[in-house]
Amino acid sequence: MTPNTAVDMIATLNDYDRFIQPYQAGIREINLRMDTLKNDFSNEFQHNPIHYIQTRVKTMKSIYGKLERRGYEPNFENAKNFLTDIAGIRIICYYTKDIYTVIDALHNMHDLEFPTEKNYIKTPKPNGYRSYHMIAVVPIHNIGTDYYPVEIQLRTLTMDTWAGMEHQIRYKAQLDNPDTVVDELREYAELLNNIEEKMNRLYLRVPFHHN
Ligand code: GTP
Ligand code: MG
Repeated sequence: MTPNTAVDMIATLNDYDRFIQPYQAGIREINLRMDTLKNDFSNEFQHNPIHYIQTRVKTMKSIYGKLERRGYEPNFENAKNFLTDIAGIRIICYYTKDIYTVIDALHNMHDLEFPTEKNYIKTPKPNGYRSYHMIAVVPIHNIGTDYYPVEIQLRTLTMDTWAGMEHQIRYKAQLDNPDTVVDELREYAELLNNIEEKMNRLYLRVPFHHN
């Protein structure tokens, strides 16, 4: 279905606005809970496990592109049925331990479900990519209640730095990373991980300063 007049195009954009609203609500919901978590931890442990949070919803172009790549007719019904990454939230932590703290807190929210979780920290991808991925299914209350997936990616600062730079390299190459580049990328991912562990040990070693 390709819109071929200006009127069709506007109708489709209105549809997108309506379609995307509950996904945006899902993001707000997770964001709000992470804010509460931040405050609780800052008050109790003087350490906030979350450094910052980025969010995004998939554009219409990107939704249609992904459906087409997967062999589905590009429409919103298929998007709702087959895509789980329309709403995305990325949580950047200081240390790996903080990531597991946030995951534990999420698992304790019993009104959420987590149908898939991928631990690329324990098992990095062949190119060295590290992150913890989970799909959270969030209840959205409108007239009735419906459930919407939010893709949550948890990373440390160094994991995020690596992923950002690798993404640029991949984009520039316009293809999956060729083998030669993959070896180097994996090596740098490991170097960054070593540095992060050293910084973490240093953090744990320096004495606490009470005012
Ligand atoms: P799609 O790739 O989105 O179809 O989903 P998937 O089921 O293969 O999920 P996967 O967990 O592999 O990746 C989902 C998201 O994680 C991607 O859209 C990226 O944001 C991120 N990601 C996964 N692998 C890499 C990687 O090698 N490099 C970077 N920079 N990001 C990655
Ligand atoms: Mg994706």
